Amino acid sequence: RTYIHNIDSDAEEDVQAPEFPDFTSKVLEAINALGGRVFPKLNWSAPRDANWIALNSSLQCHSLSDIFLLFKSSDFITHDLTQPFLQCSDQDSPDPVINYELVLRKWSELIPGGEFRCFVKENKLIAISQRDYTQFYQHILKQEEQTCQAIQEFFSQHIQYNFLDEDFVFDVYRDSQGRVWLIDLNPFGEVTDSLLFTWEELTSGGEISQQQECPAFRYTTSEVTVQPSPCLSYRIPRDFVDLSTGEDAYKLIDFLKLKSEQEESDEEESSPQ
Ligand SMILES: Nc1ncnc2c1ncn2[C@@H]1O[C@H](COP(=O)(O)OP(=O)(O)OP(=O)(O)O)[C@@H](O)[C@H]1O
Ligand SMILES: [Mg+2]
Repeated sequence: RTYIHNIDSDAEEDVQAPEFPDFTSKVLEAINALGGRVFPKLNWSAPRDANWIALNSSLQCHSLSDIFLLFKSSDFITHDLTQPFLQCSDQDSPDPVINYELVLRKWSELIPGGEFRCFVKENKLIAISQRDYTQFYQHILKQEEQTCQAIQEFFSQHIQYNFLDEDFVFDVYRDSQGRVWLIDLNPFGEVTDSLLFTWEELTSGGEISQQQECPAFRYTTSEVTVQPSPCLSYRIPRDFVDLSTGEDAYKLIDFLKLKSEQEESDEEESSPQ
């Protein structure tokens, strides 16, 4: 006996997905121009919380359907679409009309230990945090001074006074040759993750914002402090992942047994004998 359920027979009517041929070809053109592999964002956010659903478990996209799948599965993207002005200080003024834009970046294999978040208050770089604070990276510990100096130089040469606001947060990547790259700019406030600092520390005018010469530099200092990944709560339970990838064969067998037992008992109930 087989227990394959014919999904089609349940569907009462044919639902046609809408098509956007112009948009589709534009996106494909852009993907090609960027070398075939892209990192997608909407106006503000990347679907960082949805990588678990992608076949490659990453945000790397090759097609429009890769992008749609990530966007549809992401709470961060939903936030951009439904409440982009949450926590803005001018809550009373009407929301501006937003032109949504799909942003595609050329894919780049970034080593998480090279990423840093930098906090700027009144045009002064006050704090730098390791971005992937869940892990301990020996090289950050070893190169603390060089990293801090390289970021400060990058800030004063390229960023300082060039941004509309005097308070903001920028993210950088320091590659293996020590070069610094700008990744993103973010609002200075609660909507941006303050990582190894707290917003209270950054805004209170206390020790950190009073620092004179050097910005405060924080990183995870030992294996002991390693923390769970912050996006874990957005994922589906591990069991579902194992089932869908067939990684844990016994779990799959147990699941199928359970399913067939259930269907047998359903049948017994419904068919009069
Ligand atoms: N071009 C790229 N290729 C590959 N990975 C990338 C690329 N750009 C960014 N990433 C990775 O994705 C992460 C998130 O990117 P980004 O900061 O642009 O998203 P975000 O939604 O603004 O994040 P946040 O909410 O933390 O501000 C980065 O930390 C980096 O690891
Ligand atoms: Mg950002």
